[in-house]
Amino acid sequence: MCGIVAAVADRNIVSVLLQGLYRLEYRGYDSAGLALITETGLRRLRAVGRVSELAAQAEASRVDGRTGIAHTRWATHGAPCERNAHPHVSGGLAVVHNGIIENHEALRARLQDEGYVFTSETDTEVVAHLIAAELARTPDFFAAARAAIARLQGAYALAVLRESEPGRVIVAREGSPLLLGISSEGSYAASDASALLQVTRRIVYLENGDCAELTRTGCRVTRIDGTPVTRPETETHLSADAVELGQYRHYMQKEIFEQPAALSNTLEMLSAARSIQPGLFGARCEEVLKEIKQVLIIACGTSYHAGLVARHWLEALAGVPCNVEVASEYRYRVSVADPRTLVVTLSQSGETADTLAALAHAKSLGMCHTLCICNVPESSLVRENTLRFITRAGLEIGVASTKAFTTQLAALYLLTLIVARLRGRLSEADEASELSRMRQLPMAVLRVLDLEAHIQEWAERFATKQDALFLGRGRHYPIALEGALKLKEITYIHAEAYPAGELKHGPLALVDKNMPVIAVAPNDALLEKLKSNLQEVRARGGELYVFADADSEIAPADGVHLLRLPEHYGQLSALLHVVPLQLLAYHVALVRGTDVDKPRNLAKSVTVE
Ligand code: M6R
Repeated sequence: MCGIVAAVADRNIVSVLLQGLYRLEYRGYDSAGLALITETGLRRLRAVGRVSELAAQAEASRVDGRTGIAHTRWATHGAPCERNAHPHVSGGLAVVHNGIIENHEALRARLQDEGYVFTSETDTEVVAHLIAAELARTPDFFAAARAAIARLQGAYALAVLRESEPGRVIVAREGSPLLLGISSEGSYAASDASALLQVTRRIVYLENGDCAELTRTGCRVTRIDGTPVTRPETETHLSADAVELGQYRHYMQKEIFEQPAALSNTLEMLSAARSIQPGLFGARCEEVLKEIKQVLIIACGTSYHAGLVARHWLEALAGVPCNVEVASEYRYRVSVADPRTLVVTLSQSGETADTLAALAHAKSLGMCHTLCICNVPESSLVRENTLRFITRAGLEIGVASTKAFTTQLAALYLLTLIVARLRGRLSEADEASELSRMRQLPMAVLRVLDLEAHIQEWAERFATKQDALFLGRGRHYPIALEGALKLKEITYIHAEAYPAGELKHGPLALVDKNMPVIAVAPNDALLEKLKSNLQEVRARGGELYVFADADSEIAPADGVHLLRLPEHYGQLSALLHVVPLQLLAYHVALVRGTDVDKPRNLAKSVTVE
């Protein structure tokens, strides 16, 4: 979490820093700050709240500088207030940081003994004092910064400037993302490339353990011990449109409506294919899949829900045992490892700290067959896996994940079909019909999006509720979980999801006329069972909102509101049924007036434990 921008250029860089922060606000948005070397020395501005508050301060104070660092924060250590906002300073140094310094308490105690005075509760302030202390022994700024950073434990992306050395910024990364931007006008660094599109497309991705010195004429990259290293320069293909809202009010709305295109891009390689090639997941995929006996999926949040759907597919269609684990639990759980397991990590960002740590844990247990399905090709997760599939959902900015989920599902379905074929469970004819169905998916999603007006009506009624219950069965129970997560995340309505058969084992006690119950009810083998569960709700006065298929024998009635999806999509129906739930959450949030793209207390990319 938190976003960092740094710049050293031949011109005033205040607008570069602020524009960069606006792009990074999805990473955290409870306070923001910047530090500049101005004609009169070091100048620091900090504001509680959004980047716009900081921009207003910058405009009012007319600050001007050519060397600067900036930060947008998601609080970990210390409340979101001005005193804890970055940059933190010490003896003419200013530091911004993304991540968590795990040994900050020990370092703080030692620095306090040496006479350093702390003014914040953050872990970051120790970095500023540590570098200041090191400068007393090591006069070279870059060398002193590296020596201090070598004493840090935990995850960090850092940018540091020194008042007495205009034209120089030191950056470092370990566990948190950081990249450099190269241009003839200056050198830049940021947490992601979108923040630098305004000045350059030439990007250098730093590796864990790298440090760099930015000057007006270029960047020098070394390892933490000072050994020079060369990192390749690439051109980012991120389009400027991807970061613009265009005709939409919110990124989440834009991203919901981008799903047909996102799916079509992700499945592009199928357009002329007669069969699904394992090579889509990496050169060694076929060999690895022939060796494995089971699958272990690890992920967080929405990505975890995609994993839960995939378990149904992998077991039912491919006949391979599959477990799905929440990354933050798995990494600390004592589990039984089998080296013939395919470990699949799912992540939109590829930077989720828990998922990365869980993967490292799985590898440490001897499971070396690893595959990630990820939306960011340059992310840490992609580098950590031997097999990979990059979903092509495009940049996802809204904190509530939408198009990343449906494209993950598409990738997981492809994986299922490949495993099924290798295990002799998919005939050529069935594969051809699956392929044709997948090619039609984008159009099918487009038709579901046409239901928006109807869902808007439902949203009006939901907006006054305090609680909601989501029900599903089989592979649609994870869709109920995802619907509940979307609703609570952006509307702050308390929502829970249950496998419908579990209702009578407890949650039915919650049902009364004030409790809306949303049922994901596609026309599958469990529909009749689900209908009985819905009767149980109706009998207790609960109001039902049912998402059914065109061909379902469910009828609207008093207290039973029904919306039919245009078509029945078999195994892939989970991909369609999640869309109205995304729209429902979005429209309820609009009626309630919450901040759709930046819900309270959250951030897009969870790069801390
Ligand atoms: O980037 P990841 O897919 O690894 O992120 C995992 C979760 O943090 C993420 O899905 C989160 O739950 C979303 N805000 C849900 O909308």
